[in-house]
Amino acid sequence: MSVIIKTSEQIEKMRTAGRLASEVLEMIEPYVIAGVTTDELNTRCHDYIVNTQHAIPAPLNYRGFPKSICTSPNHVVCHGIPSDKVLKPQDIINIDVTVIKDGYHGDTSVMFCIGTPSLLAKRLIETTYECLKLGIETVKPGNTLGDIGHIIQTHAHQHHFSVVREFCGHGIGEGFHEDPHVLHYGKPKQGLTLEPGMIFTIEPMINAGKRFVKTLSDDWTVVTRDRSLSAQWEHTLLVTQTGVEVLTQRTSEQF
Ligand code: MF3
Ligand code: CO
Ligand code: CO
Repeated sequence: MSVIIKTSEQIEKMRTAGRLASEVLEMIEPYVIAGVTTDELNTRCHDYIVNTQHAIPAPLNYRGFPKSICTSPNHVVCHGIPSDKVLKPQDIINIDVTVIKDGYHGDTSVMFCIGTPSLLAKRLIETTYECLKLGIETVKPGNTLGDIGHIIQTHAHQHHFSVVREFCGHGIGEGFHEDPHVLHYGKPKQGLTLEPGMIFTIEPMINAGKRFVKTLSDDWTVVTRDRSLSAQWEHTLLVTQTGVEVLTQRTSEQF
C-alpha cells in the first residue's frame, strides 16, 4: 500500500475540488422531488459541473460507467445508474457526486427523502449519518483506520443495522480511488496510522437488513440481497496536524 501524503499545493486544489462537489449536492437538492427521474437529476448535475463549474464529472466513462453521477434509491446500495426511473413519495435516494477540477477529485454523497420517509428509513438515514460523523471525529494523527472502522461498525450494530463490507472509502487526489482502503468495520488500533496530509473518503453503506449485496446484470448497480433499505453518506477528508478538515462540507453542516 502506498499512501500519498499531499503537499500544500495539492491540498489547496483538493479544497477546491471538494467545495465544488459539495456545491453540486446543494444545487440539486430542490429538484429531488416526486415525479423527477434520476436521469433528469443526472443531466442537471452534469450541466452544472461542466458549464457552471468548468469541471469534469468523474464517474462519466469511469471504467465504463455511463452517467455523470450515481443515483442509488431504496434497496440500491451504491453505483446506481441514472435512468427513466421516476421518484415517488417515501422513496429514499443516495446521490453521489465526484468532480475533477484542475486534475484533483472531490467525492461526496448524501441521502434525500421524497416526501415523508417511513420511520425505518428515517432511522436508517440518521444512523448512517451518525456513523459518518463518528468516523470523521476519529480522524486525527495517531489514530488508525481500524479505529474509524470500529466506531462505525459499533454504532450501526447498536441500532441493529448491518455494515456492507464489499465497498469501502478510499484515498483520493489525482486518482479517483487511491490507497488506502478505508473499511467501515474493524478493530481499534489496527491498520494504517493516520498522518497529516493524508486525504481519503469515509462513505459507510448501512443496511436495514442483512449486510449481503449483489451486483445486477448491468455490472454496476449494487443491491441488498434481501431487498432491505440501504443508506450511505460520504465526505472527502484531510488529516491535519490536530485533527480533520472536511473538504466536502456543506453550508448546512458543522464538524
Ligand atoms: N463515487 C463513488 C465512490 O464514492 C464511485 C463511483 S464509481 C462510478 O467511490 F463509476 F460508479 F461512478
Ligand atoms: Co468515494
Ligand atoms: Co462517491
